[in-house]
Amino acid sequence: MPNNLSYEEIISLQRKTNIVDIIRDYVPLTQKGKNYFGVCPFHDDHNPSMSVSSDKQIYKCFVCGNSGNVFNFVMEYEKVSFMEAVKIVADKVGVDLNINIVKNKNIQNKNNRLYDIYDIACKFYQNNLNTAYGKVAKKYLSDRKITDEVIKEFNIGLSLSDTELYNILKSKGFDDNEIVESAVGVKNGNHVYDLYKNRIMFPLSNLDGDVVGFSGRIYDNSSESKYINTKETKIFKKGELLYNYVSAKTYARKEKQIIVVEGFMDVIRLSTIGIRNVVATMGTAVTKNQASLIEKLAPNIILMFDGDEAGNKATKSYIDNFSYDQDNIKIVRLEDNLDPDEYILKYGKEKMEYHLTHPINMYEYKISDFKKNMDFNDSKKVSQYINLVIPEIEKIDDDIIRDLEINKLSKLTNVDKSIIVSKIKFKDTNDVKMNKKEIKMTKYEKASKFIIYSMIHSNEAIINYFNNLSYLPDDKDRMLANDIVLFYKKFNGFNINDFITYISDKKDLINLIIEIDELDVKNSNDSLDDYFDTIREYQYTNQIMKLTNELKNETNIIKRKEIAQKIVELKMKESK
Ligand code: CTP
Ligand code: MN
Repeated sequence: MPNNLSYEEIISLQRKTNIVDIIRDYVPLTQKGKNYFGVCPFHDDHNPSMSVSSDKQIYKCFVCGNSGNVFNFVMEYEKVSFMEAVKIVADKVGVDLNINIVKNKNIQNKNNRLYDIYDIACKFYQNNLNTAYGKVAKKYLSDRKITDEVIKEFNIGLSLSDTELYNILKSKGFDDNEIVESAVGVKNGNHVYDLYKNRIMFPLSNLDGDVVGFSGRIYDNSSESKYINTKETKIFKKGELLYNYVSAKTYARKEKQIIVVEGFMDVIRLSTIGIRNVVATMGTAVTKNQASLIEKLAPNIILMFDGDEAGNKATKSYIDNFSYDQDNIKIVRLEDNLDPDEYILKYGKEKMEYHLTHPINMYEYKISDFKKNMDFNDSKKVSQYINLVIPEIEKIDDDIIRDLEINKLSKLTNVDKSIIVSKIKFKDTNDVKMNKKEIKMTKYEKASKFIIYSMIHSNEAIINYFNNLSYLPDDKDRMLANDIVLFYKKFNGFNINDFITYISDKKDLINLIIEIDELDVKNSNDSLDDYFDTIREYQYTNQIMKLTNELKNETNIIKRKEIAQKIVELKMKESK
């Protein structure tokens, strides 16, 4: 327990807090029935497998098993101590707690030097744009309608020729190895040169907003490749980043929507018309890692890749590989093969806004894709078409929408509705519930869990336990039961939420109690006393086994007698 705040103060804060609101600040949540669901931030998750209960004020992931209350969530998410988590929650709720916390410093030690290099490089590049060397680049940018304001906002810069950055870094004490390691320099023979020569520079940041690499674009019609990116370093992996991630995060959370585009210029152009919940995948090869980041940004995703065939392919591939929820991804396809940047310049803000407020859903996108080169007079093609569409119809959860789509398909193809319906496999539409697992347990394990379950739900059971049993075979179960008893004695009552806060430093017991609380043991016919007997039986059987072993090895006649006597007594108790 913390030293400078009382347990009561923390409990009172917890009671003022709604876990759903706090977790929402970190992870998009959607309500299904009584519970809320989101993508679990504690493992590489793609489905919403974390449930948050506002009744119970706890979260739990069905896949990785991580669970706890609001403080546990913040502790794990922010990687902070219990007291820091309490402080963060208090700030969010607007409760003034009198605590001072020494912040855990982010120790980057050796990598610090790399971050320093990017910092210096960033400032150097930015400054160049405003010098005489920057005239042509500046003209290029202003021709592309990139204002000084935008240049500043996105920290756009300019690299110069040969060894300008290298010289600066050397003068600041960095050696050749460090410069090459950071990948702003490349070795050629015995010399190190700047990697980026005469390019417009876009800094690329990691998920914390630190610059960890660059992308440099040509601007003078040279025939070299359009963009050069920093190669992979210890701290830069392009496939694990999204351009504009940190800035977009705030807007995406607020608007519950994230717009995904291909390029830097698309992000930048959209920001000039006030659309800022945008990230770029930096090309059409979207990685699983990026998709997972996107999913965690907002519950609604709009894919707006370039309007050309490459963008169409990227859209299809994203849907095929990374869509786990039929409803949360919507698609915008732009006309004339344009990318969002070009589209805004050509058609203006309103047309872009119209697109973004009228995206098509995945079903419509796929159907329109199947229709390409379709000939409805060719019966073979019609049959193929129907077979392609049916799996998509099966994915529609809403039965009204599903029926409407079936009608449409029947009309379009001139095939009788009943034939189409006969081919469709209808899903069970059971409510999503907190997962009540039927775990295979021995009768002793089952008894032990039932006893704890009863203690969670009845004070009498707690009293009964410490008066009549006070023992469970499993170490963790026993520790948990002990803590429940201690808590009960100390506070004259029991409440699972307060208890979880009380044992906040014992994460394994928290996961255990939440797991037990979720077990489906209510329909058990046995009483608490029956379960006590089962545990006693276990105790006796165990002891008898131990004594029987002792007996085997004991040679002293008197001692043998004593042991045998004990065994008889235990056997009598066991058979009672
Ligand atoms: N890209 C890259 N490396 C390349 C080509 C492209 O990293 N060799 C990434 C960049 O992030 C780029 C995005 O892919 O922004 C989309 O590429 P493209 O459509 O070719 O560039 P645009 O964003 O349209 O750039 P511009 O408008 O300046 O031509
Ligand atoms: Mn472009």
